[in-house]
Amino acid sequence: MRYYHVLCELLKTHRGSADRIDAAEIGVAHGRTSRILLKTFPTLRLVMVDPWDAARTRRYDETFHSSKPRTKEKLEAAYKITLRRTQRFADRRQILRYTSLEAAKLFEPMSFDMVFLDDDHTYEGVREGLAAWGPKLRPGGIFCGHDYGGPNTGVSEAVTDWAGTTHRLIHLEDGMVWWTRM
Ligand SMILES: C[S@@+](CC[C@H](N)C(=O)[O-])C[C@H]1O[C@@H](n2cnc3c(N)ncnc32)[C@H](O)[C@@H]1O
Repeated sequence: MRYYHVLCELLKTHRGSADRIDAAEIGVAHGRTSRILLKTFPTLRLVMVDPWDAARTRRYDETFHSSKPRTKEKLEAAYKITLRRTQRFADRRQILRYTSLEAAKLFEPMSFDMVFLDDDHTYEGVREGLAAWGPKLRPGGIFCGHDYGGPNTGVSEAVTDWAGTTHRLIHLEDGMVWWTRM
């Protein structure tokens, strides 16, 4: 199963029948997962966070795109594709051209039923994302992310360390998805 289908299953199992679901995707790229989530869940309100600006995602770009840099033009094109892909759901999406940490500051604690971390995959990036977004989940909410065990990422180590210090049980699924219930 692809990772975005795993996310849909998780949301369906834990929040599928809710009148309103609040979720955030951190790291949006071309809006593929955003579109699938918005299409699958008619009561979903989705916050989509990505600056689409390599100067502000330097750690991610230097680690994962050094041999083929993401140019300004490429990133603007990705942003436009995202706008187009999710246009049908414009009343339920909120696109924030911010970094993860900038965006996290905009929300009160316990604002979300699901947060999906798929942005900076370095150890530091994931560690910061976990600390910033964990408190934004409601009790019972799904905190999840992508690329657990992915090559050259710090995801598994950062998630394992965070789970150890916060006493969380981490579940692993197909598509390199990790998740826990808050
Ligand atoms: C792997 S892609 C996301 C894929 C997307 N979630 C999907 O499923 O289609 C990673 C994205 O994270 C963004 N990113 C990197 N560092 C970030 C940060 N610190 N804050 C927010 N977004 C970041 C990048 O710009 C890139 O578009």
